[in-house]
Amino acid sequence: MPLIAVYSPKGGTGKTTLAANLCHSLSTMGLKTVAVDFDPQNALRLQFGIPLADTSGYVASASESAMWSKHLLSTPHHVFVLPYGKTTIQQRSAFEKSLIREPSFVTRGLQELLAQPDLIVVADLPTANIYTLQSLLPKADVVVTPLLADTASLSLLPEVENLFADIAMQENASDTFVVINQADYRRKVSKDVEGYMVQRLNDTIIGIVHRDESVVEANAAQQSISSVNHASVAAFDIEVISKKLAEKLGLVTNDGSMFSAPAPHHI
Ligand SMILES: Nc1ncnc2c1ncn2[C@@H]1O[C@H](COP(=O)(O)OP(=O)(O)OP(=O)(O)O)[C@@H](O)[C@H]1O
Ligand SMILES: [Mg+2]
Repeated sequence: MPLIAVYSPKGGTGKTTLAANLCHSLSTMGLKTVAVDFDPQNALRLQFGIPLADTSGYVASASESAMWSKHLLSTPHHVFVLPYGKTTIQQRSAFEKSLIREPSFVTRGLQELLAQPDLIVVADLPTANIYTLQSLLPKADVVVTPLLADTASLSLLPEVENLFADIAMQENASDTFVVINQADYRRKVSKDVEGYMVQRLNDTIIGIVHRDESVVEANAAQQSISSVNHASVAAFDIEVISKKLAEKLGLVTNDGSMFSAPAPHHI
């Protein structure tokens, strides 16, 4: 039932990596997850071991059928994936220019997934595509925005703050959080930017993911960070964020217990 939207006004900040690894991490806690790709790059599926040659997805037939769930793929790790898929220019244009801008279209498309009370839907949104975000907002419980610990992301802070303020004004407003990604304490600029972001955004920051070679290796291996290197700092960081999100969403584990807040980490 809960919907987590991963969105950023900046490209390459780790949206796809975060969306996929949140799914992986939540699933290791006994929760059922589905990763939904709204990005025409169609890259989310590659984080789940789905072969490059598999170009199936829901967008190509979106104008004829609102049954997105029939395009669901299951993965060996008990996480479901709904890929964007291969499209023609016309199909993609119809999806981006009109269909996705209609909240009722998104509601219909996601209906079956959101109707399952024990299924957590994690959506990977295309960079800076405000229409997709806007359509998802009435359904999203949480919006998570990864930003890099660099000056380019820093310059976008006012935009992120304005967006979050706009979201907060809406009826049944989604909770909004920032993840600082690729924090690297060996680099002064990273430390400075992180310090400034933490001071300025305060409670909005739900976690920090360190720059870690295991992330790159996991992407290359099409696996989760934790399965590539369970002891890696990034795997730990993602686990902390998933637990915080699970707690904020009031999710219940298989044994019926609720998540409780983990100790604050790094912040
Ligand atoms: N914590 C990290 N440590 C090291 N590398 C990382 C980390 N997070 C992401 N990366 C790398 O950064 C690159 C961009 O990540 P990703 O594709 O998840 O970003 P994105 O926001 O989805 O990009 P796009 O805007 O193109 O959709 C990838 O090569 C990924 O492996
Ligand atoms: Mg991406």
